[in-house]
Amino acid sequence: MKYPISVELTKQSRLAEVDFDNLIFGRVMSDHMFVADYIDGEWTDCRILPYGPMPMSPAIMGLHYGQAIFEGMKANKSTKTGEPILFRPELHVERLNRSAKRLAMPEIPAEIFLEGVHRLVDLDRDFIPQSEGSALYLRPHMFATDAYLGVRASDTYRFVIMSCPVGPYYPKPVKIKVAEKYVRAFPGGVGFAKAAGNYAATLAPALEAKEQGFDQILWLDGKEFKYLQECGTMNIFVVIDGKVITPPTTDAILAGITRDSLIHLLKDKGFEVEERNISIQEVIEAHQAGKLDEMFGSGTAAVISHISDFSYKGKNFELSPIQGRKVGPMAKKLIQDYKVDAVEDTFNWLLPVRTTNKELSK
Ligand SMILES: Cc1ncc(COP(=O)(O)O)c(C=O)c1O
Repeated sequence: MKYPISVELTKQSRLAEVDFDNLIFGRVMSDHMFVADYIDGEWTDCRILPYGPMPMSPAIMGLHYGQAIFEGMKANKSTKTGEPILFRPELHVERLNRSAKRLAMPEIPAEIFLEGVHRLVDLDRDFIPQSEGSALYLRPHMFATDAYLGVRASDTYRFVIMSCPVGPYYPKPVKIKVAEKYVRAFPGGVGFAKAAGNYAATLAPALEAKEQGFDQILWLDGKEFKYLQECGTMNIFVVIDGKVITPPTTDAILAGITRDSLIHLLKDKGFEVEERNISIQEVIEAHQAGKLDEMFGSGTAAVISHISDFSYKGKNFELSPIQGRKVGPMAKKLIQDYKVDAVEDTFNWLLPVRTTNKELSK
């Protein structure tokens, strides 16, 4: 193997502390983490360690100039074999590397990323929750580690994967506010990257929206302020007159893996799916004409999140209740069933986790 991995097992598992009936998203980490360092132009020192703090200089460049990127993916247990499985992991490697390139960071070899995921999930397999809508959430991320206070690309980086058992992200339908004052991304920017700074920039607007009683912001394009982009940490889908519409992925939109999977699954079920620009005006007109059937967001964490209403320039637009919806609830079931291996793997998207650590972890 080009990148050997050393393993240090935890001396005290935290598994018994996990309340699997009340999982709060992102709060409890599993026992181990995977770490690799980029030094002198090479990825090196791949290791699995007990999850915990890492000593760092406060001068690391990731903290100051924002060279920090991440991924969000999930592992489930197959309902057929009971073994851990991954959903389209190679797309997460590709997306992390697109983010890396845009932020002048080194790409992570697929072998390191995937081997790290396999080994970690295998080792912490008992942390995978099995109730409906829950999963082991994996957070691969990379940040600049040069301790240096001048603006330039760092020479050194750290790649870390940690994981946590999670339940559903949005347990109920969300109320959204269409952005009026702020933009998330614009042409030529970094909106397509899963860069930490993209999220920081949305926090103050999201707090403002929360104070006004909304759960999320639906972002419009940063050039004309007209077209739907995405919603919180989700891609957006609109159903008008039975037709499913989602904005095309540009350099201002994160290319969601759930989004792509849903497009395939819905088309496979015979739905008409259009990837095209859709303006907020068109959505409002469809609502006024009684043709706006549904709106929902899609994401690894959120799965499918139904939108109960949206507000634009002070006016609220209510959508039909979930019971009357055809596409969203079905899409949610399709993707959830697929991820736990409860339906046929038509698209070859599932990958069993290799059991390399089995002997080690006993
Ligand atoms: C800004 C943003 N858009 C969309 C998504 C959905 O992407 P995916 O389906 O790959 O999780 C996410 C979540 O990762 C996100 O953070």
